[in-house]
Amino acid sequence: MTQSREPIGVIGTGYVGLVTAAGFAALGSEVFCVDVDEAKIAQLQRGEVPIYEPGLAELIASNGERLHFATTLDDAVAHSRLLFVSVGTPPTYSGDADLSAVHDVVDAMPRSGDHVLVMKSTVPCGTGRSIKRVLAEQGNGALAYVSCPEFLKEGSAIEDFMRPDRVVIGDDGDPAGDAVAALYEPLEAPVLRTDVASAEMIKLAANAFLATKISFINEIANVCEETGANVLDVAEGVGLDARIGPKFLQAGVGYGGSCFTKDVSALKLLAANSGYHFQLLGAVIEVNELQKRRVVAKLQRELGALAGKRIAVLGLAFKPNTDDMRGASSLVLAARLEAEGALVRAYDPVATDEARKIMPELDYATSALDVVTEADAVVLITEWPEFLSLSWQAVAEAMHGTLVIDGRNALDPEVVRAAGLTYQGIGRG
Ligand code: NAD
Ligand code: UGA
Repeated sequence: MTQSREPIGVIGTGYVGLVTAAGFAALGSEVFCVDVDEAKIAQLQRGEVPIYEPGLAELIASNGERLHFATTLDDAVAHSRLLFVSVGTPPTYSGDADLSAVHDVVDAMPRSGDHVLVMKSTVPCGTGRSIKRVLAEQGNGALAYVSCPEFLKEGSAIEDFMRPDRVVIGDDGDPAGDAVAALYEPLEAPVLRTDVASAEMIKLAANAFLATKISFINEIANVCEETGANVLDVAEGVGLDARIGPKFLQAGVGYGGSCFTKDVSALKLLAANSGYHFQLLGAVIEVNELQKRRVVAKLQRELGALAGKRIAVLGLAFKPNTDDMRGASSLVLAARLEAEGALVRAYDPVATDEARKIMPELDYATSALDVVTEADAVVLITEWPEFLSLSWQAVAEAMHGTLVIDGRNALDPEVVRAAGLTYQGIGRG
């Protein structure tokens, strides 16, 4: 599907921006990408992809002639009227969303009645209204504004772009929304048209609900541990109810990533700032923080004091198939274990370089078998496929102790036990 289609600009070439750019290029648009990070743009201009996302490098390579990369907005503004904004909106110290990058982009927008700012970044509800006010104050009130939140997941981002559950387009009666809808038409996905505020709230509510589902099943898992029930069977039985559904009911060591943590907190604070105490989200956050730490108690129960004990961490990324370390549960676990005096070694097949930037002092191994060698206990934090097919016999021979904690319930307990090891999952009776 490569017939000529409306050209677009994409501002911010991170996980969302690059996938959006490559996806629309594959659908036939010329795409003009802009980023303030000069090193990143230089890499992209050389044909190198700065992040690990399955299929992305191939999609960029096969649509290279339609993808243009620059550090200034000039080409994007000259060649396209739809300017997609996908800059980061990380949390501030107060937990609110930091909109400084968004505001930088707004300030750099062309004075134009022809262009459309299409917001893909996740922003608090009310941001579109305040941006439109700022644009009007800047004498740029004719610039159209559309909210088009992104729902992709890292690790399956290309598939999520090409086959979205839905596309949400929020405009306050502006015909610019139609142009965005036309761009998504070839995907044949359900399109929901709303006002800007509702589109913004849909994004925050979706992430908050998914995080709530995870914290809920993690609490059920913790009760399973006390009562002898198996959370995998419980999740299956609960998830077979069509009103609940089977997805996002995998108990583990808590959700990580850049978005659930920041978006749940941003929604809670958005409510608080407007005078409403969102009690449920407070619990969702607290359960998740405690869940990351429960592994330490499990280790202490089996090994006693952890000072001097060798703990091998299998997996660092916040989930498999990504190099993203933002908000990863492994960060909290490694820090807690080191605080207890444990000797922590870690291995990740892809995210080690990213992890090193955040935890330069951590001891990194070069393979799964390397990391488990002489370990008193092994903790699986990220369910990378290569860990699921490990020879547990070889692991048992390399280890000093016998304890294996499966923080994602990803292993077959019988296989691990057959190798003479002690298996502990999360909520598995
Ligand atoms: P990211 O940090 O990977 O990328 C953001 C990019 O924006 C960086 O390359 C940065 O250099 C660039 N940037 C910053 N200021 C800029 C400016 N003024 N002009 C041009 N570029 C600028 O972030 P991300 O993970 O892609 O997330 C982007 C947004 O999308 C966030 O709001 C996030 O919440 C949302 N989102 C992310 C995901 C995800 O899975 N990562 C999914 C859905 C929504
Ligand atoms: C999440 C959402 O799923 C996307 O829809 C959304 O667009 C994105 O956030 C965002 O706004 O950035 P992502 O963070 O990439 O996507 O990854 P998920 O697959 O949602 O996993 C997030 C975390 O939850 C991971 O640490 C994962 O291990 C954990 N998780 C997920 C569980 O613990 N249990 C589950 O059942 C599912």
